[in-house]
Amino acid sequence: MGNRLRSELMVEKDPLFKDRVAVEMRKYFNTDSRRIDHASRVALYAEKLAVEENGDPAVVIPTAYLHDIGIKEAERKHKSTAARYQHEEGPPIAREIMEKLAATEELITEVCDIVGHHHNPRPHESINFKVLYDADLIVNIEDNLRENKISAEAVRKLVTKRFLTLSGQKMAVAMFIPSKKEV
Ligand SMILES: [Fe+2]
Repeated sequence: MGNRLRSELMVEKDPLFKDRVAVEMRKYFNTDSRRIDHASRVALYAEKLAVEENGDPAVVIPTAYLHDIGIKEAERKHKSTAARYQHEEGPPIAREIMEKLAATEELITEVCDIVGHHHNPRPHESINFKVLYDADLIVNIEDNLRENKISAEAVRKLVTKRFLTLSGQKMAVAMFIPSKKEV
């Protein structure tokens, strides 16, 4: 609640904050249009889910833009995109970007906390975490389907078991599980 109020105040001060974060993310990823596209789509779904689930879009949207920001350093330093390296490398970069944009410490702390474990939900997560996790999962399923890297059965399993919010799961069912009529 505290975070929510504070981040809303910050948004009143700077309604374009999320767009500035998007610009910084694009600059950071530079020519890597695949990552830019991924982060942008996660932000789009995360915003919808945040509204439906009563999360805070002012937290969720910047988090979505920055959630994979550690991937370049993970590749450079550890020659790996493993979640643990992304979780380690992401928060300092996310913090630097948000400090540059004069975000409040409360917002920076919440965004960095989510970025720093976004593949590994803890037993009790905030709704902002859950929304980001589900939006990322949807985009990852979309990407894997497009690249033929995942079977229909595996998609069905993910959709039934992995989603953390009802709205996320409903969105995934509508997107990925063909209705009987269409089969
Ligand atoms: Fe992601």
